[in-house]
Amino acid sequence: MRAAVRGAPAALLALAVCAAGAAFAADTAGAAAAGAAGSTAAQAGGEGARVYAQHCAVCHLPNAGGSPGFVPPLTGTLGHFASSEDGRALLAAIVSWGMTGAIRVGGRSYMGAMSIVRPLSDEEAAEVLNYVLRDHNQASLPADFAPFTAAEIQRHRARKASPGEVHAARQALARRLEAEGKAR
Ligand code: HEC
Repeated sequence: MRAAVRGAPAALLALAVCAAGAAFAADTAGAAAAGAAGSTAAQAGGEGARVYAQHCAVCHLPNAGGSPGFVPPLTGTLGHFASSEDGRALLAAIVSWGMTGAIRVGGRSYMGAMSIVRPLSDEEAAEVLNYVLRDHNQASLPADFAPFTAAEIQRHRARKASPGEVHAARQALARRLEAEGKAR
């Protein structure tokens, strides 16, 4: 079994991770619908935490730690995106259109695809980004961080993009931040 897993192509493994995730998501949604208590984190963080639990935790994990090689962490690595118009447009694009292509985050490489299966409303996208930034990226968040609003998400969404185009935008921004010494 071990050898088979080690030999499996990356894409297959990624698929396995996502399939497992989908089951988890269904469970989570079911639990919420049934009026079960839900996670403590979701209660503490409000709407953003609820959206995170239902739409993101499946891949990025409940603690936002990600999976080595496939799914990047969302902890302490995103604050520098929140202070510029380009960076904010990128975050809105990622949660709206997904992203595909190799990236480096915190000095590690990830090769995965984030696809949007269940689209978020403008409100949900704003809330989940605010949750991820405030609860998991406090240290790297600019002091004058202005929370996302549904109106800002709607404005960014006027420019539609493919997951590959979102990746190209991220790479260009990452190179620029690196040149300015602001990359993580
Ligand atoms: C199907 C699995 C999956 C789901 C669901 C998912 N993501 Fe992702 N996410 C990924 C993968 C894989 C990447 C890396 C994509 C790449 O390499 O181009 C990523 C990348 C990101 C990034 C960019 C990180 C960086 O450092 O550039 C952000 C931000 C992000 N996801 C946020 C979210 C949020 C918020 C949600 C929920 C609304 C979510 N993701 C749902 C798999 C997922």
